[in-house]
Amino acid sequence: PQDRPLAGRRLLVTSGPTHEPIDPVRYIANRSSGKQGHAIAAAAAAAGAAVTLVSGPVTLADPPGVTVVKVESARDMLAAVEAALPVDAAVFAAAVADWRVASAGDQKIKKGQDGAPQLLLVENPDILATVARRAAGRPRLVVGFAAETENVLANARAKLARKGCDWIVANDVSAATGIMGGDRNAVHVVTGAGVDSWPSQSKEQVAAALVARIAAALAAADPR
Ligand code: C5P
Repeated sequence: PQDRPLAGRRLLVTSGPTHEPIDPVRYIANRSSGKQGHAIAAAAAAAGAAVTLVSGPVTLADPPGVTVVKVESARDMLAAVEAALPVDAAVFAAAVADWRVASAGDQKIKKGQDGAPQLLLVENPDILATVARRAAGRPRLVVGFAAETENVLANARAKLARKGCDWIVANDVSAATGIMGGDRNAVHVVTGAGVDSWPSQSKEQVAAALVARIAAALAAADPR
């Protein structure tokens, strides 16, 4: 029905930052609030989907009617995402840390005579690319996000190709926009067919519009 266009569909959403441990009491993080990802999960559930939300550490309430899996690190997030498959569509809104500390200690690092510690960073798995490039069990629709501070559209197009996803939702997160952590968002939906630039609106409105577009794409690909 029109008011529940995702009834019978399974959706996966990632949201929030990841925390990458340095030692038992310290971590590397980023400024993602999780607001946009949580709003997408809520909108998809309201549209009738069975939604799994894999969330890094956030201060937000769990959206109603959503199965929430809480994780800390990028590696934990990848494991939770793979456990949630198969799904019809997956939306990767999390701000995953690109790097983690190569060997996070079991004990708190002490201030000593050796001066400041040198942290060796290694690259985290790319969760979006891993799922988008799966040979078996790839979701029909894989949507990534791109938080850019310059050349937003060019970078989004490059990311679409590099990650192997179907759509990139790109936004300009330069400090002046107030998007990171804020309540509003102005996004460009970049697909193989072109770009739709949506006006600045609340993150809930972006979520509702994106969910409507996902429902239409799934219906076109697999009418029921
Ligand atoms: O390459 P970049 O980090 O800008 O790509 C952003 C997109 O990739 C987002 O959809 C984000 O959730 C996803 N991503 C991911 N795993 C990573 C890095 C990014 O899923 N390790």
